[in-house]
Amino acid sequence: MLKVGVIGCGHWGPNLIRNFTQLRRSDVVLVADLDEARLKHMKGLYPTIETTKDYRDIIADPEIDIVTIATPVHTHYKLASEALFAQKHVFVEKPITASAKEAKALIVLSEKHQRKLMVGHTFVYTTAVRKMKEIIDSGELGKVYYINSQRLNLGLFQQDINVLWDLAPHDISIVLYLLDQEPQTVSAVGASHINPSVEDVAVLTMKFSDSLLAFIQTSWLDPDKIRKMTVVGSKKMMVYDDVQPTEKIRIYDKGVEGPKLYDTYTEFHYSYKYGDIIIPKIEGTEPLRTELNHFIDCILSNKEPVSNGRSGLYVVKILEAAQKSLDKGNNQVPIAEDHGL
Ligand SMILES: NC(=O)c1ccc[n+]([C@@H]2O[C@H](COP(=O)([O-])OP(=O)(O)OC[C@H]3O[C@@H](n4cnc5c(N)ncnc54)[C@H](O)[C@@H]3O)[C@@H](O)[C@H]2O)c1
Repeated sequence: MLKVGVIGCGHWGPNLIRNFTQLRRSDVVLVADLDEARLKHMKGLYPTIETTKDYRDIIADPEIDIVTIATPVHTHYKLASEALFAQKHVFVEKPITASAKEAKALIVLSEKHQRKLMVGHTFVYTTAVRKMKEIIDSGELGKVYYINSQRLNLGLFQQDINVLWDLAPHDISIVLYLLDQEPQTVSAVGASHINPSVEDVAVLTMKFSDSLLAFIQTSWLDPDKIRKMTVVGSKKMMVYDDVQPTEKIRIYDKGVEGPKLYDTYTEFHYSYKYGDIIIPKIEGTEPLRTELNHFIDCILSNKEPVSNGRSGLYVVKILEAAQKSLDKGNNQVPIAEDHGL
């Protein structure tokens, strides 16, 4: 039984506490938060769990194997590095850190202390995203031309990070997982409407090799909750709608082809293909449960997590480049290939 300490029980932390508590191989023993009311609330839900206002009680507890961090992004590096120094396995929520430099330092620390470091890229543990990867890898869609992702809703407004840092980590981690490659350049455009110093709408473009593109649109100002990703390939197209309760993926046997040879403009005809729409069957398990079970597997059998420190770093590198582009008015910003570890 692995003993877990959770730092941060605001909006997301309670989901981690619930899942770690329900898993048979882990038990939450101590929860820390600066907010007394949140601790009281958690104690009401889980009377056996101890609570503290000082996260250092978790780091210093020799009984605790896993430190889980669900606090605002700017605190992740400090808390995670102290936990790794104390020989704990660390699960840190997305994005892993506020900078690539911090993410690299955490990777180095986890390797030095031989402790697992995992980031909460929850969507790569969903059955739908796993199914999409299977379909892309099988070649059913043909050559992938582009991915278009939308993550839009009304709120929750964050004070310390903009909408890209808040919402895009999910889409970036899905795109990197599906394509298994990093972009060459990134550009972003956005605007602030409510809080003048925090962008609340933004669009990010990632350019990969061989004309492959990915677009990510994020907003805290949209009337509808939209979680939609379209993958357009040379043979077929696939739409993933996470808001749908059951039929999350549709594969469209649609496409367009230009004529092989033509001499005059009148001979130039595109041919459009409208075929069947397939809805693959997908099991409905809670992704967070799969994610935390995977973390425990990795600790017990000394494996690397799918969303390890490096995948956290790749996402943060893209966010940093996107921020640079936003600040400079939509410039193309190259992604450095050297991870400098
Ligand atoms: N994986 C997902 O799908 C997902 C979903 C939502 C949020 N998140 C991530 O979870 C993290 C937390 O987000 P949230 O929405 O719960 O934020 P939140 O602001 O609702 O909660 C953060 C909590 O951390 C506490 N806190 C801050 N500093 C602390 C410290 N030094 N010691 C102890 N407690 C401290 C705050 O008092 C607060 O209760 C973020 O990194 C966010 O990106 C992930």
